[in-house]
Amino acid sequence: MKMNEKLRNYENLNLIQENREPQRSYYIPYDSLEKALEGNKENSSYYKLLNGSWDFAYFKRDIDVPDIITKWDKIPVPSNWQMHGYEAPYYTNVNYPYPVDAPFVPDDNPCGVYQMDFNINKEWAQKDSYIVFEGVNSCLYLYVNDKLVGSSQGSHLQSEFNISKYVKVGNNKLTVKVLKWCVGSYLEDQDFFRLSGIFRDVYLLSRDKGSVHDIEIKIVNKTISVSEKDYVIYEGKNKIETLANPILWNAEKPFLYTLVVKNKSEFIPFKVGIRDIKVSTEGELLINGMSVKLKGVNRHETHPTLGHYTPYDEMKVELLKMKELNINCIRTSHYPPSPEFLNLCDELGFYVVDETDIEIHGFVSRNGGYQYDIENPEWICNQKQWENAFVERVQRMVERDKNHSSVIMWSMGNESGYGSNHDVMINWTKNRDSSRLVHYEGASLVNDKSSVDVVSRMYTSVEGIEEFAKSDDMRPFFLCEYSHAMGNGPGDVYDYWKRIYQYPKLIGGCVWEWADHTVLVDGTYKYGGDFGEVTHDGNFCCDGMVFADRSFKAGSLEVKAAYQYIKTEIIENKLKVTNLYDFTNLNEYKLLWKVASDGEVIAQGELNCDIKPHDTKQYILDFTLPKSCELGCYMDVSLEKEYEVAMEQHSLDVEILNGNSDLQGTAKFEEESELIKITGEDFTYTFNKHYGNFESLIVDGSERLAGITKLTVWRAPTDNDRNVKYKWGLFEDNRSGENLNRIFSKVYSCELKGNKILVSGSLAGISRSPFLKFNTSFTVSACGEIEVEFQGKVKEDCVYLPRLGFEFEIPKKNEKFKYYGMGPTENYMDMCHHTSVGMFESCAKEEYVPYIVPQEHGNHTKAKELCIGGLKFSSLGVNFSSNNQFEFNVSNYTSEVLTNAKHTDELIENENTIVRIDYKNSGIGSNSCGPELIDEYRLKEKDISFQFSISKFI
Ligand code: GAL
Ligand code: MG
Repeated sequence: MKMNEKLRNYENLNLIQENREPQRSYYIPYDSLEKALEGNKENSSYYKLLNGSWDFAYFKRDIDVPDIITKWDKIPVPSNWQMHGYEAPYYTNVNYPYPVDAPFVPDDNPCGVYQMDFNINKEWAQKDSYIVFEGVNSCLYLYVNDKLVGSSQGSHLQSEFNISKYVKVGNNKLTVKVLKWCVGSYLEDQDFFRLSGIFRDVYLLSRDKGSVHDIEIKIVNKTISVSEKDYVIYEGKNKIETLANPILWNAEKPFLYTLVVKNKSEFIPFKVGIRDIKVSTEGELLINGMSVKLKGVNRHETHPTLGHYTPYDEMKVELLKMKELNINCIRTSHYPPSPEFLNLCDELGFYVVDETDIEIHGFVSRNGGYQYDIENPEWICNQKQWENAFVERVQRMVERDKNHSSVIMWSMGNESGYGSNHDVMINWTKNRDSSRLVHYEGASLVNDKSSVDVVSRMYTSVEGIEEFAKSDDMRPFFLCEYSHAMGNGPGDVYDYWKRIYQYPKLIGGCVWEWADHTVLVDGTYKYGGDFGEVTHDGNFCCDGMVFADRSFKAGSLEVKAAYQYIKTEIIENKLKVTNLYDFTNLNEYKLLWKVASDGEVIAQGELNCDIKPHDTKQYILDFTLPKSCELGCYMDVSLEKEYEVAMEQHSLDVEILNGNSDLQGTAKFEEESELIKITGEDFTYTFNKHYGNFESLIVDGSERLAGITKLTVWRAPTDNDRNVKYKWGLFEDNRSGENLNRIFSKVYSCELKGNKILVSGSLAGISRSPFLKFNTSFTVSACGEIEVEFQGKVKEDCVYLPRLGFEFEIPKKNEKFKYYGMGPTENYMDMCHHTSVGMFESCAKEEYVPYIVPQEHGNHTKAKELCIGGLKFSSLGVNFSSNNQFEFNVSNYTSEVLTNAKHTDELIENENTIVRIDYKNSGIGSNSCGPELIDEYRLKEKDISFQFSISKFI
């Protein structure tokens, strides 16, 4: 087998493929109408899946591949070889993992040689044989029975070869040489683990000689037009003669007809959804005439053990989870997905922005720094010799996916500057398919010179989108990426949606991104840098709105809440319900309402709301509010089918009466050097004057504290705090912050006055002037209730604080605690729409959230009561306004441990449980890549007054 002389061809732009079949639409031919209608491709006699355990030989340098390979390992197909111990996974975002010297790739170019045998019988051999590779990274050279058939590049695009003249009856040898890099790698600088190999299905097709190649199905004026003459249409099991009044397809009701093309002995089925896509003069996106908002997410193909391969069943689970989160749109970032994925999108109902396999982001850093100097001819998007390589990638996507109803927009790729090659791509696409929209975010770099149909941007702020909405550019505005969901987040998605609903031409957007990209090693999720990469981007790949195993986090639920399809309002006994579905009457769901006072349900009901899409109705509900309550009175409204699809909570106007705590009488106060001992009937407290706080609270003979209470401001930075954290804290690589993670607490004075202990003091970061000065009074009543009243003043030019509150250590028992506040999931002042105020139970362990890089988590806002370890923290004190509330957090981990750990397995539990009773904790936002935290969610006030009480709880 002579191969080596061919290999250098992989750098030649004129040889990006040899003998590959022209791209056609995706389909599988069947040998009978019944089988075609059933659509289970494994049953087709004309289809032979070659997936399985193949022989594999790995070479560090392609030039070392011998003519005859004698030693073979085994590797599963599909898979990536880095996931099987051949090289380590390599994560890099913007930077190319090799020099930017296009078209040249490293001299030492690893090569994986795959081999397998397949058998064909006489019947098969009499017809034409094709082989299809759905995805091979980065390029392949195909040999059948030791003869070179052809080659192909474009990792996420289909490569089909006619192998008829190479096969024989009986056993055939298939050899595929896959190179790690080729000239096409320059077009695949997407932000992901760089993984190689045959990572999608490989199969053979047996075709009639001279059978049809491409088949095109178009929807024109709500009718189906087919490029072939001989076909039948079925509605379910019934054959249809004429389609006069077709049932239309949309993402909510994805009705599909089955169309079977008859060609020679082949039956070729397609699922066809009838729908049309238009843009209104207002810039709205009209699907079947309805103004639709795209509730989107960006989806990469990523799997913690399988790399870039996602099995069919898991894709389906993924899509069902998206449905559960009210997502109706997917941008296939940043390449066409596996073809079956689009079949599932047609079937389950998603609007798809199909993106071609192009990203050349790394050109920005070819000279160091970060420069989008796209006019520079070094950018290959400007180079004529690269035109075909760009254009054929969009052509192959459009030709493969053109028959999918789910695809509503073509995307010209991601982060690839803007050059003449883009103009050619856009023009070609618009001419080829005028039924869909064309988007390319890079067009924003040339302002209006480009002819894209949609204005798309990434990470524009909420004000930014509002500014566009008010401009006179009447094109639809699409956030192809927003609300960067890295780690604990995103916190701002709800704020975006307020504006998106407000302005017609804001057609929605896609959260960045669906799932964390990680590699699971011995039970721990690993990311960039864990595999010895020379240049990498750390955990920037861990930015999913769901975890790598697709389990939900608070951010997932927050997206669900922002995307939900009802809006409700309560005015006295009137409930106003707006249906935000585009094609679904609310009568398909149950609307449940309940009124709870102090966490106890006092009235509830169920409505069947016959409300058409985009309509509003009012209902009179039958309930009587109590005269007063102690904690709060709320109405919860939810929409359910098999599960809850939407939930909103409204605070009801009921007077909240102060608690009955009795501060009369005095406990016994004794001062002994630095301590004040306070005793009552069933308690002994010890206050430390030197540190200005309690160090012991003995109630009923048992100690409730495990250390001295502290006033603190630190939280383990979230990924979304990654910029502000340098203004907050002292880190090895930064010395210009307030050093809030290295604070000193100073007590200027501490006096006992009657039953009050008055402390005045400050907090300051090391080497900094105090950022906070405060006066706190601790009042202890005869029955042992402690009222804490804090008045603080924050230094004028201080950065907004991470949080502020009292940190208690209590003996660790991991027992259940109970609270009245926002729950049950963690929540922050901006990321709280997925939760509601109520009475909940939890324990420290359950509060832990396994963010890939440990960080702040587990906060609860709007709390009025927390009962833990025999203590009750309460916002109710007779001297204070009854609307006081606090935020709290219960954890087995200190903020310091969470700050320092880089992976979950480095976390060491604290010997005590930490309870934070906070005035406030700043919001979450999405500043890991998005805009800065919205002002109103920052703890930035300069005058702070905060009160709560501590009492015994049995
Ligand atoms: C965007 C890019 C994405 C991803 C994201 C950061 O600029 O399009 O691919 O890199 O940033 O997570
Ligand atoms: Mg990028």
